[in-house]
Amino acid sequence: MLMGTNNIRHVAIIMDGNGRWAQGRGHVRIWGHVRGSSVVSSIVEEAQANNLEALTLYAFSTENWSRPFSEVKVLFRLLKKFLLKERKKILQNKIRFKVIGDTADLPEETKCLIDSLTQETSNFKGLKLTFAFGYGGRSEILHSVNKFITDNPGVKLGEKDLWQNLFAPELPEVDLLIRTGGDQRVSNFLLWQIAYAELFFTKTQWPEFKREEFCQILDFVSNRERRFGATTSYSCLNETKVLAEKNRQIIHDHLGTI
Ligand code: IPE
Ligand code: IPE
Ligand code: MG
Repeated sequence: MLMGTNNIRHVAIIMDGNGRWAQGRGHVRIWGHVRGSSVVSSIVEEAQANNLEALTLYAFSTENWSRPFSEVKVLFRLLKKFLLKERKKILQNKIRFKVIGDTADLPEETKCLIDSLTQETSNFKGLKLTFAFGYGGRSEILHSVNKFITDNPGVKLGEKDLWQNLFAPELPEVDLLIRTGGDQRVSNFLLWQIAYAELFFTKTQWPEFKREEFCQILDFVSNRERRFGATTSYSCLNETKVLAEKNRQIIHDHLGTI
């Protein structure tokens, strides 16, 4: 048991508030996306500087398909621009890049850029940078369950099986979920992976989110006591899970004496 440690390995961010940021300044919503996309790079740098293992960014949800075509188009273009612009830096910094979600409807060129960057970085040991694009937590869980039952007909699905069939099974549990933009909801993001995540909601809109605030949040949350259901600090859910199973057995064996 590790007392008092609050290792934050995996941070997930719901990058929200672009539209309201732009409208509040008399611009059209898409201006907020343009400005918002330029923030990403500094947050990735800060994640590396803080030795995070993984950073997962929510860029386009399954529900975002309901937005006007003109807005969706801009979001697609910004993804492509990011891939082109950041490619060199990602390679230099040995970042392992991946996209989770349904990218089938993205333009061919963008899909090729994603595929090549994913392949080229697949053995890198640096930050695991994951973009959630065309992503929905429920569809991911459904995808995992369906894949398992197709591959293993008649076998009962376990927790490990569900993990292993997620879009990015190598990612650890989410330790910290940050949402910018002031709303306090998870909007279908990483539903399975955030089971025991610390949640942090900031009113700062994404285009205004600075590395300093990111660091402050990391600092603040790393001082929170994480108990994972126990009565004292633990470093991860697996530790208390093992303990819970052991205790359950002890209680079971002594049921008669209770
Ligand atoms: C987040 O900003 C970016 C995406 C959802 C793609 P929004 O576009 O949701 O901005 P608000 O929440 O309307 O201000
Ligand atoms: C969540 O933001 C999705 C992304 C940031 C990509 P939304 O703005 O789409 O979420 P709701 O509509 O407020 O739930
Ligand atoms: Mg929003």
